[in-house]
Parts: sequence; structure tokens; C-alpha cells
Amino acid sequence: MKTDEFPLALTYNDVLLLPRRSSVRSRAEVDTSTFLTKELRLGIPLVSANMDTVTESTMAIAMARLGGIGIIHRFMEIERQANEVKRVKRAEAYAISNPYTIKPTSSVAEAKEIMRDTGVSGLLVVDDSMKLLGVVSKRDVRFTKDDAKPVTEVMTPREKLIVAHEGVTLAEAMELLNKHRLEKLPIVDQNDVVKGLITAKDVERFVNPSKAAKDSQGRLLVGAAIGVRGDYLERAKKLVDSEVDVLVVDVAHGHADHVLETVKKVKSLFPNVPVIAGNVATAEGTEDLIAAGADAVKVGIGPGAACTTRLVTGVGVPQLSAVMWCAEAAEKHGVPIIADGGIRNSGDITKALAAGASTVMIGSLFAGTDESPGYFIVRDGIKYKAYRGMASLGANITRRLLDKMDINPEDVAQIVPEGVESVVPYRGSVSEVVSQLIGGLKSGMSYLGARNLEELRKNAKFVRITALGAQESYEKLQAW
Ligand code: XMP
Repeated sequence: MKTDEFPLALTYNDVLLLPRRSSVRSRAEVDTSTFLTKELRLGIPLVSANMDTVTESTMAIAMARLGGIGIIHRFMEIERQANEVKRVKRAEAYAISNPYTIKPTSSVAEAKEIMRDTGVSGLLVVDDSMKLLGVVSKRDVRFTKDDAKPVTEVMTPREKLIVAHEGVTLAEAMELLNKHRLEKLPIVDQNDVVKGLITAKDVERFVNPSKAAKDSQGRLLVGAAIGVRGDYLERAKKLVDSEVDVLVVDVAHGHADHVLETVKKVKSLFPNVPVIAGNVATAEGTEDLIAAGADAVKVGIGPGAACTTRLVTGVGVPQLSAVMWCAEAAEKHGVPIIADGGIRNSGDITKALAAGASTVMIGSLFAGTDESPGYFIVRDGIKYKAYRGMASLGANITRRLLDKMDINPEDVAQIVPEGVESVVPYRGSVSEVVSQLIGGLKSGMSYLGARNLEELRKNAKFVRITALGAQESYEKLQAW
């Protein structure tokens, strides 16, 4: 290769977007909805990264409620990952198909314990054949003096309960809840066997729809990552059985024969589940993943805050160019691109989407929130949370332990990490972080006269800036 054949590749800080004439008067007029895959729609273009210091069920629930999505990481036992998916799918629904129940012989103390552990405010009292005998609510048990007595003594018995029958429509359920001022409406068949439960809270969410990202049954959307080795197909199957909405075939170098094979295999085994594949940073990589069946392509080799791939291997592409090259290739097939890694502020999100990405995946900016796994650490009076690259030494050791591999010193010495373990500042709730990021994105869109992401892409004109331009842009007074 000759020197003059080197293409120039740029990253977010190398460019700015030109302001354009705009008729947008306020951020409220700006719509940030987008597609994660060809079919899955999101209200905001943010995805929390499948990393063990970023996304488990708590983060995924919060992200979906805000209109984005979380991808549950895969560095845990298959059963546990499947349970994390189930927790998200159970967090909200128009009707709960397996409501929590209690036996008539159970005590008030047991009822209190189940309510505390599950966070629900009422339990259906059922016999061994799931026949409805009554409902015991928090109110019924709150002031009982004798916790040892059976729940049947404090419950509302079946004859006093209003119930609905299988096939009840939402409008009918709403009318019953309203008319009788109910909190809970059990659904039973003609033999009084429990078939589900509708709660006033769930119906309320339906009547006042939020921006939450949901499936057709009103349940929150969630994704989960799988690898390409070992028991990955068993993992995929368990996740699909848990009704995951999207699988992410996640490896550092996605443009590899065995990854393409994996994508093909997963698509043929689970044709109804969308598959995101990555990571790549070239048009060829994107084309090959799409040809293998990918429903979205994840882009980013080395831009992440905890990544050392470029240092260790000398390989990578500055992220803005990677996104542009891949988006151009994917557009022909109508396949969305996820810009993964290197997002340091809301301006980077605007640039990534203007460059053709449909969503951005975020690790470090979300790792410091309440919803990420783990507790905060205090150092010199300042709060932090742990954040580590999934190819860091510690993450490699965790993976070896999970795979029941040896971790004697010689084996550990063979590991060549491509990521670091660090801490990030504690940032409070993820909803506050997302609100700032989306607010910034919407302002950016209004500077370009864009009311939606399609108009953002159409109106985007980048300018390349110099080191002094970057200094003027980013080196500001420190807040005090
Ligand atoms: P940010 O910048 O949002 O990036 O923290 C998150 C993305 O970083 C990638 N990632 C890694 N890349 N070595 C790498 O080269 C690693 O150890 C590593 N861990 C995570 C990943 O794509 C993630 O979504």
C-alpha cells in the first residue's frame, strides 16, 4: 500500500456540524424516535452497553421506561442471564399472566414476606388447583396484631371479589376497575381457576402511554448478548425462551468467519428474533454481517472509554468515519447502524446520528448511575462507580472462572488484555443522565432545522476543524 492510498479517518472531536436555517421553535417539536433493528422501534436512540458494569435488569428496565433499551451482558451463568431478561419482561404488562399467589394455609407473616420480596401490593389466595379463594392486600395485613394467623382470616374472600373472565378487553377491565374502585382485577376461567391479573396501575400506563419502549403486550423491550463459542446456542435458546426481544452477537472482531457462521446459525434457529451483530468498522464488515442475516450492525473498533484495542493491536478506525462508512453500506439494505463506544457528551450523539447511525450504545456515561450493577466507591470524599472493559484482565479472569477454566499464574500471564479496569464519577439516576443527553441532542437537531432523525441526516453538513478549533470547542473554564 502506498502512502497516498491511505484514506483519512476522523472522529467526533475532529468535526462540528454547520448550523442551518431552522423553523424549529422549541425542543418539544423534535422527535427522537428511531429503529434499533429493521423492526424494533425506540423512542430515544440510546442503548446501554452489554457490559458487566453497565447493564443488568435494573438498567434495562430504566432504559426501556425512558424509551431506549438495555442489552443484558453475557458474563454470567446462562440461567441468571435468562432470569434477568424475565425480570424486565415482568416489570410492566397490560395483564400479568402469572400473578404472585399464596396458599390459604400460609400465615400473614408469609404474605408480608412475599409482598416485601416481590414488591407487589397484593397476592391471590389459591388452592392447589389454582382456584381463586380470595385476595390479600398490603392494607389487609398492615395492622394485624397476630402475624401467625392464616391469610384466609384477613383476605377479601372470593364471594366479595369482582373478577373478570378470560378474553376481557382492556375497555371492559377499565370499566370494572373504575366502577368498583378496584386496585386489582383477577382474571379467571369458568371454573374460577386463575388465568391472570390486571392492576389499576398497569391500565393507567396504557391510558396515559409513556415514551417507554414496549412490545405488543405492553412489556418493556430488552436485549441480551451472546458470544460465538462454547454454549452460546444453549444461551441463545434460554434467552429466546425468556422472550428476549433482540439477541446481540457480541465480539470484539465481528468481521470474522466464525462470527458470520454464528449469525447465520442463530438466524436459522430463531428466525423470529432479530439479531444485532458486531463489532465492525468497515463497509465490507457491514456488508458481510448483513449478508449473514444481521438485522442491525454494531460499529466500533477501539473508541470506547475503557478500550485499549488500538494501543495493544494497532487496529481500529476513528469512530465518526467508521459510522459513516458502515452506514453508507447498510443503508442500501435498510439495516440500522448502532454507533458503539466513544460517546463522551450529547454533542457526540448528534454527530453519530448525523453521520448515519440510528442509535448509539453507551458504556462509561451510564456506568456511574444508580441503575448500573455494583455499589459506589468513595475516594477522597468523592463518589465513583467501577467501570471496566470487557476485555480487561479482570473481565478475562471472570470469564475464565465462568467457563471453569484454570486461572493459575501461567494461564493469567497468557492473557493479553484489550481493556482497562477503572472508575467513573457517580452520576445519580440514569434518567437524569438520559434527560441531559436527549436534551442536548434535541437542541443540536434544532440548530440544524431537523424535526426528526431523518431530517438530521439530510441537513447534516460536517466541517473538519483544526487542533485550535478543537481547543476553542472543548477546552472551557472549569465549573466551580
Ligand atoms: P464507552 O465509550 O461508551 O464504550 O464506554 C462502550 C463500548 O466499549 C466497547 N468495549 C471494549 N472495547 N476493549 C475494547 O476494545 C474492551 O475491554 C471493551 N469493553 C467494552 C464495547 O463496544 C462497549 O459497548
